[in-house]
Amino acid sequence: MELVMKKKRVAIIGAGPSGIAQLRAFESAEKQGHEIPELVCFEKQDNWGGQWNYSWRTGTDSYGEPVHSSMYRNLWSNGPKEVLEFAEYSFDEHFGKPISSYPPREVLWDYIAGRAKKSNIEKYIKFAHVVRWVNYDEETQLFTVTVENLRTGETSSETYDNVIVGAGHFSFPNVPDFKGVETFPGQIMHAHEFRGAEMVAGKDILLIGASYSAEDIGTQAYKMGARSVTFSYRSNPMGYEWPEEMTELPLVERFDGSDVHFVNGEKRTVDIVVFCTGYLHHYPFMPSELSLSSPNNLYPDTLYRGVVSEANNQLFWLGSQDQWLTFNMFDAQAWYVRDIILGRIALPSVVEQRKHMDQWLSRFEGVKSENDQIDFQCDYVEDLIEQTDYPSFDLKEVATILKGWVKSKEEDILNYRDYTYTSVMTGTTSVEHHTPWMIELDDSLERYLSEPEEDEAREVYRGKQVRDKA
Ligand SMILES: Cc1cc2nc3c(=O)[nH]c(=O)nc-3n(C[C@H](O)[C@H](O)[C@H](O)COP(=O)(O)OP(=O)(O)OC[C@H]3O[C@@H](n4cnc5c(N)ncnc54)[C@H](O)[C@@H]3O)c2cc1C
Ligand SMILES: NC(=O)c1ccc[n+]([C@@H]2O[C@H](COP(=O)([O-])OP(=O)(O)OC[C@H]3O[C@@H](n4cnc5c(N)ncnc54)[C@H](OP(=O)(O)O)[C@@H]3O)[C@@H](O)[C@H]2O)c1
Repeated sequence: MELVMKKKRVAIIGAGPSGIAQLRAFESAEKQGHEIPELVCFEKQDNWGGQWNYSWRTGTDSYGEPVHSSMYRNLWSNGPKEVLEFAEYSFDEHFGKPISSYPPREVLWDYIAGRAKKSNIEKYIKFAHVVRWVNYDEETQLFTVTVENLRTGETSSETYDNVIVGAGHFSFPNVPDFKGVETFPGQIMHAHEFRGAEMVAGKDILLIGASYSAEDIGTQAYKMGARSVTFSYRSNPMGYEWPEEMTELPLVERFDGSDVHFVNGEKRTVDIVVFCTGYLHHYPFMPSELSLSSPNNLYPDTLYRGVVSEANNQLFWLGSQDQWLTFNMFDAQAWYVRDIILGRIALPSVVEQRKHMDQWLSRFEGVKSENDQIDFQCDYVEDLIEQTDYPSFDLKEVATILKGWVKSKEEDILNYRDYTYTSVMTGTTSVEHHTPWMIELDDSLERYLSEPEEDEAREVYRGKQVRDKA
């Protein structure tokens, strides 16, 4: 009698850059002639791209689900594209010509979608399907995944050998409370709900937080003509050379109507408050014994090699780290997870896994500077890539680019997006965008790829720079 082996079934949660990386990883093995498991990717939105799939909505979406994306109009990449480039699908291949180092959101969405289309992975994705619950049965050693089809309202449950979570962790806002904040009469929101800085023109804005959201929304507000931008930090100021309209103050002590009092005794009167206080690792579809609980850091504990759940080695998490690297790190993780599932990589014992995690955690404890963080994450990705057939690339050079990026922000926080870098994948050096970022108000793909005549705005801006330097 012929023995028919049952195909493994794998559920992937989310079709953002991480989920897409996972599908692409399996597809790449299939193209090489390997048999791959049955794959189902559940995506609660109507389209792929995760955070990059912009929505004008805030609060809940058309299905009544929490809006996923925290991105806004005029969001441009805040790191050079040369550090996130896929090793197997370059920007040159996608756009057919060199582009600048800091593309806007729609351009990066197009790049992510381009790789996905080329890979023929759409067939695995069930859009508008939200994962409601994941359960593991010790006896059968299978997960039951309960999903709701948001278009029909139908729920269904099926079993899987593996679950891979690529649900992102910059979606559920961390919203602290401040004394008297309920008396503030103006607009108050978390960065997750911020959709564009045009409304700030002529107004005074307060941003609570001292990381990327505060920095970028503050810069957008300045660009769009805010009268003043005040940042409030809890631990450390960002410390950039801000123009005179922008100020960093320590933590808010209390609100009294529109007046905001800071712990150093200073007071500001503001019209709009944006909490740039980060996000929670929050996975409402996971029982606590399987879930991931961590601050936003470079090495969430309980994940062997940053991806394998210590609680259950059939469960994996992608992209759960804080991110200096993004798309290519998710690829490195996805290729590694694929090879575990395909049986090409054998996991060590749980004791060995813990030892390995402790070694990385101990190195992580010693990470102090931004440069240390960059080296830590680049080494982590290199370690993963060495174990699979994901095309290797020069991660030392990527670290150098990242360190140069940090320096460029110290040199010129308002204009660092005009700098250019060279791809480690193709050797192509970026071109300067046709319009300096500070005066570019159109973030569309069409405008980005167009080649307009040098316009007056640019000349005026150049003149200002020359005057400022004189
Ligand atoms: C405001 C902001 C700006 C950023 N800017 C940059 C940048 O400039 N450069 C950069 O490299 N990175 C940037 N990032 C980081 C960004 O998180 C990553 O680039 C990337 O999007 C992470 O991919 P992901 O697939 O892990 O998660 P996500 O992109 O968050 O995708 C997760 C997907 O899972 C789906 N999902 C979630 N829960 C469920 C469920 N229960 N059932 C079904 N589907 C579900 C979501 O709908 C989503 O499509 C930014 C992040 C934010 C918040
Ligand atoms: N493309 C872009 O331009 C862009 C724009 C925005 C965001 N992003 C991305 O979005 C992701 C998230 O960035 P993020 O800045 O939102 O989050 P984050 O990096 O996790 O930073 C959270 C900030 O909130 C502060 N904070 C937390 N709790 C606080 C409290 N109770 N009171 C005061 N401050 C508090 C933290 O201060 P402590 O230092 O004291 O902890 C920290 O400064 C990053 O990956 C980033 O790259 C990108």
